[in-house]
Amino acid sequence: MKIKNICCIGAGYVGGPTMAVIAQKCPEINVTVVDINEERIKAWNDEDVENIPIYEPGLSNVVKEARDRNLFFSTDVDAAIDKADMIFISVNTPTKTYGIGKGMAADLKYIELCARQIARVSKTDKIVVEKSTLPVRTAEALKNILDNTGNGVNYQILSNPEFLAEGTAVDDLMNPDRVLIGGDIDTTEGKKAVDALVDVYAHWVPREKLLTTNVWSSELSKLTANAFLAQRVSSINAMSELCEKTGADVNEVSKAVGMDSRIGSKFLKSSVGFGGSCFQKDILNLVYISKSFGLHEVADYWEQVILMNDHQKRRFAAKIVQTLFNTVSGKKIALLGWAFKKDTNDTRESAAIYVADYLLNEQAEIVVYDPKVKTEQIYADLDYLNTRSSEENKAKVKVVNTAYESAKGAHAIAVLTEWDEFKDLDWEKIYKEMLKPAFLFDGRRLLERSTKEKIGFEFYAIGS
Ligand code: NAI
Repeated sequence: MKIKNICCIGAGYVGGPTMAVIAQKCPEINVTVVDINEERIKAWNDEDVENIPIYEPGLSNVVKEARDRNLFFSTDVDAAIDKADMIFISVNTPTKTYGIGKGMAADLKYIELCARQIARVSKTDKIVVEKSTLPVRTAEALKNILDNTGNGVNYQILSNPEFLAEGTAVDDLMNPDRVLIGGDIDTTEGKKAVDALVDVYAHWVPREKLLTTNVWSSELSKLTANAFLAQRVSSINAMSELCEKTGADVNEVSKAVGMDSRIGSKFLKSSVGFGGSCFQKDILNLVYISKSFGLHEVADYWEQVILMNDHQKRRFAAKIVQTLFNTVSGKKIALLGWAFKKDTNDTRESAAIYVADYLLNEQAEIVVYDPKVKTEQIYADLDYLNTRSSEENKAKVKVVNTAYESAKGAHAIAVLTEWDEFKDLDWEKIYKEMLKPAFLFDGRRLLERSTKEKIGFEFYAIGS
């Protein structure tokens, strides 16, 4: 079976880049990305391709090539479902904020709404692909809704979790380590559906990297991969605190350990804590699933990864307060970076939000500079915490357009995102703008200590 029309529900950080790359690599397939967020779709269709809503290196070029050729962005969800042979579900699956499983389980209401809409609209057989990260056995629930509320058409459910990392999404999509496709491979129809998706990816991904499994292994592999990656960060962050007490340097430890081929060097960089929309939510989800099966030791084991991460964010903020003579009340503190990592404008679960919140509780005045994050987003992130009123956040937090501006009259600067441009700032100029002693806190191990100390900064870096 050859796929001619793809629909993707959800034009976010996953749906947008993934479909842009599929469209670019498969010119004979029509790809329509739909979303209920009109503003987002409008931005994807913006005449100036630099205004697309998601910042990823290289993405605007891919969109430029494929848009209006075989890549379309629309709010007409029904029409796109109706036309498609294959439907990707790429909507958000945040942690539940209410009811049973509050603060842990994945909220599947968006997924369920999609399933009901697909069932209502479809008049021909469809292959439905779970692109969102979902708890193991969600496909069963999907199938149940589709089969029981539909128009008698046949559905095949595939799981095709996305392994891209924000900041390197285009590169990850072009050259994936592997593509995982889970399906009902024991039946002829299931096998056909899996093959159809394999054929899409085979346009550019070598066959040996296309991994097919049963649906449940595929769903669980995505949660496992994220849990392992986050665990590495929490492990090295745990060591960073010990390094600070013992005179060891976490970068040296990380290098020495990472060169062991059994361990490997990736995801061993210590920082103010991991952020992003996935690690925390997926581990909480894993913890919840484990608990629901009565596997309390398994749940506790993984939960520790989150607890360590919370500790790392808190202890960095506490270090700032303690170093500034135990009070930051009324003091101006500049935060460089708000995105959860470099090369993305995504701020979900960014460590910066929590550091800012902690310092605001200590009555600091905060100034933020980030090269890609919009001012409204910064206020929205703080308001979302509900720690204080929106008016108070506006009064206590200022967002500026350059790092130099943020340094004016500041008691301290904290680097919270590892944007390359922060390395090349004129640090002498920044020093001159600041009050003395000028404190510099490097939450990303981005800056070189000796040159900063030579300028006159009181320098603190995580893990040494
Ligand atoms: P996102 O929040 O950026 O995008 C989701 C989009 O779905 C939103 O624009 C929302 O308006 C839309 N949507 C929700 N319900 C809808 C409906 N019923 N009809 C039409 N549109 C609807 O989320 P993101 O980051 O793209 O994540 C999507 C999924 O992919 C999540 O399950 C996430 O865990 C997973 N994932 C995310 C990665 C990442 O780096 N962000 C990486 C790998 C997987």
